[in-house]
Amino acid sequence: MSQVLVYGSYGFVGSLIAREAIDRGLEVVLAGRDGDRLRQQVDDLDRPGRRFALEDPDVVAEAIDGADVDCVLNCAGPFSNTADPLVEGCLRTNTDYVDITGEIPVIEGIADRDAAAIDAGVSLLPAVGFSVVAMDCLAAHLDRRLPEADALALGADSLRPPSIGTVRTVLEGAEDGGAVYRDGTLERVPAAWRTRRIDFGRGTRPAVTMPTGDVSTAHYTTGVPDVTVYVLAPPPVTTALKAHRYLAPIVAATPVRETLKQLAGYVREGPGSWSRKRGSVYVWGEARVDSEAGEGGDPDEKEPQTRAVSRLQTPDAYVVTVDAAVTAVERVLEGDVDPGFRTPGGAFGPEFVLELEGVDGFFDESTPESGTPPVDVCSP
Ligand SMILES: NC(=O)c1ccc[n+]([C@@H]2O[C@H](COP(=O)([O-])OP(=O)(O)OC[C@H]3O[C@@H](n4cnc5c(N)ncnc54)[C@H](OP(=O)(O)O)[C@@H]3O)[C@@H](O)[C@H]2O)c1
Repeated sequence: MSQVLVYGSYGFVGSLIAREAIDRGLEVVLAGRDGDRLRQQVDDLDRPGRRFALEDPDVVAEAIDGADVDCVLNCAGPFSNTADPLVEGCLRTNTDYVDITGEIPVIEGIADRDAAAIDAGVSLLPAVGFSVVAMDCLAAHLDRRLPEADALALGADSLRPPSIGTVRTVLEGAEDGGAVYRDGTLERVPAAWRTRRIDFGRGTRPAVTMPTGDVSTAHYTTGVPDVTVYVLAPPPVTTALKAHRYLAPIVAATPVRETLKQLAGYVREGPGSWSRKRGSVYVWGEARVDSEAGEGGDPDEKEPQTRAVSRLQTPDAYVVTVDAAVTAVERVLEGDVDPGFRTPGGAFGPEFVLELEGVDGFFDESTPESGTPPVDVCSP
């Protein structure tokens, strides 16, 4: 029996992951819908391949069954188009499912399949790329430091050129604006909803709220009711994002979005090996116990009574994505993950990120402290 079927194996990230999995000794079946690209990769890597598209659930289930694998690793994004059929195929064939999505609706959709996965004895482990492994493990770490926290703010300092696939994925979700968890419920908010100055680990810098998958996973991992995620954003980026609120209906219009996606095709494939080797990301998190003042309003505007801050530094996001995805699959194959929907931090604990190469440890800002910290929160 082969161990893992990598779907989207000839995409930019999929091919890096497939090579790493093979280098680590996993038995890999390469897979995707494009016969020519798949054949080329099968010849290059000398591994078996399975060509199948995702439109027909019977075809997907037959393909997974025929590949005789223990686990499917989905690298084909935007995952809003690929996760559902592959999860369904895995449930029908009692095969574990792992992906590298960072898309909130995809993670929420997989969370909804929890009961079905438990019934089928299948683990569903989405989002084992950089987003969300780094922030999710940091959230789990903060949850241990301050278990009574009722609000989490998380953020990453990484402005780097993304791959085409990531650009396409962002465009795909363009119409959705922003999102936060508030009082235990996922809430839609405008793009660039809040700005804040944050010391991610190399001085205080401007940041803006961003609807990454970390919003959902941090909530599921910790049970903390309020979660907000920020990314480093120089003021022009924030201004552009705010303008997006008014442009969103236009950007989301199908002809414009399709043109932008085609233009994204002219961007180079993804960061080269030189920039992947040199890149690094600073990740920051703050857990707070908020006072009742401001109840029902913006969680970041409540008066914090107690807070804990921790930080993490990782290699380049694409390096972390490849390492984390293959390590997660190894752990799934070892039987480390219980059936049902699991987040990376929930399945493996905060230490998971420390297993990855180049991640040294959590940096804790003293012990949880009382009193009002120097928080600088700006409304738009
Ligand atoms: N979580 C993280 O931190 C993280 C990090 C990096 C990337 N990502 C995500 O990973 C995804 C892939 O990125 P990439 O740079 O590898 O993109 P890419 O080079 O464009 O590759 C995308 C792959 O997905 C396949 N695909 C797309 N839509 C499909 C569909 N409807 N049915 C079947 N196959 C489909 C493509 O196959 P075809 O050529 O046949 O279309 C291709 O193999 C993106 O969504 C990106 O946002 C996440």
